[in-house]
Amino acid sequence: MKKITKALFPVAGMGTRMLPATKAIPKELLPIYNTPIIDVLIEECMEAGIDEIILVTSREKYLIENYFDSFHELEKKLAKKRDFERLARIQKFKKIKFSSVRQGEQLGDGHAIMQAKHLLGDEPFLVIFGDDLTFGTPSSVAQLLQAYEKTQHSIIGVRQVPRETLSSYGVVAISGNSDLEAISGVVEKPKIEDAPSDKAVIGKYVCTSEIWTALENAGTSHGGEMRLIDGFEIMLEKNQQISAQTISGERFDAGSTKGYFLANVFMAMKSGEVSKDEILEVIKK
Ligand code: UTP
Repeated sequence: MKKITKALFPVAGMGTRMLPATKAIPKELLPIYNTPIIDVLIEECMEAGIDEIILVTSREKYLIENYFDSFHELEKKLAKKRDFERLARIQKFKKIKFSSVRQGEQLGDGHAIMQAKHLLGDEPFLVIFGDDLTFGTPSSVAQLLQAYEKTQHSIIGVRQVPRETLSSYGVVAISGNSDLEAISGVVEKPKIEDAPSDKAVIGKYVCTSEIWTALENAGTSHGGEMRLIDGFEIMLEKNQQISAQTISGERFDAGSTKGYFLANVFMAMKSGEVSKDEILEVIKK
């Protein structure tokens, strides 16, 4: 069995839902209370045993590459001040190998993933979009890896979402209702009445090497974009198996202003530094 050791983060998107901040700051670096979104996601990968992170960035998103680079002067200063807590926070990813490739033109998430093909070869790998956060035990990454260990094929992370929101997601066609189900199709942003289930795709996947040919065949069909989900559809057409893993835990779409705000409230309370009473006090004002 091929073990998964690499996670790919396509982070070259423009983050239009979070404008105007994302005109200058990558949404992945916006902090959820005290930790940037991408830091939360990579920590989850690290805890689940992933030791290599591949970032697909763009010319405008070089700040993400800088974030994971070491900052020797600052490290020296914190060590001198014996501020070991902050030092540990900025050094926590030292054991992880980072590589980054650039997506020159924003031609879709599938196109972004294709830019890293040469770094992955025929290995299975995780794909994590830089805005969907889930907090739970086991973590979302651990749940995806377990699903892959069981099935040995591609996995799409899904969540049950309110029916009225289904038309903003990719929705999987599955026949049962257990946490791990074989997928027979995926419908992108269906009308509510056409949605094949209430399980929505949330930007967390395990890809096997079949995805490369599938993406090449998918091309840039939708408004000039190459999308990962189209690659999965082609795999299904060729009878290549894909399963949906329902990811448990509190979930926030931190790429939307509302989800970002709620994730902040959740993380602030989780940190123990902000109490429910303090939050209620603000609401009362
Ligand atoms: P989204 O569809 O969420 O787009 O991309 P976005 O630009 O991040 O955000 P909005 O919707 O405009 O607010 C899903 C993932 O794919 C990446 C994004 O960075 C995100 O992690 N992506 C998307 C790329 O890397 N390149 C692309 O061309 C498009």
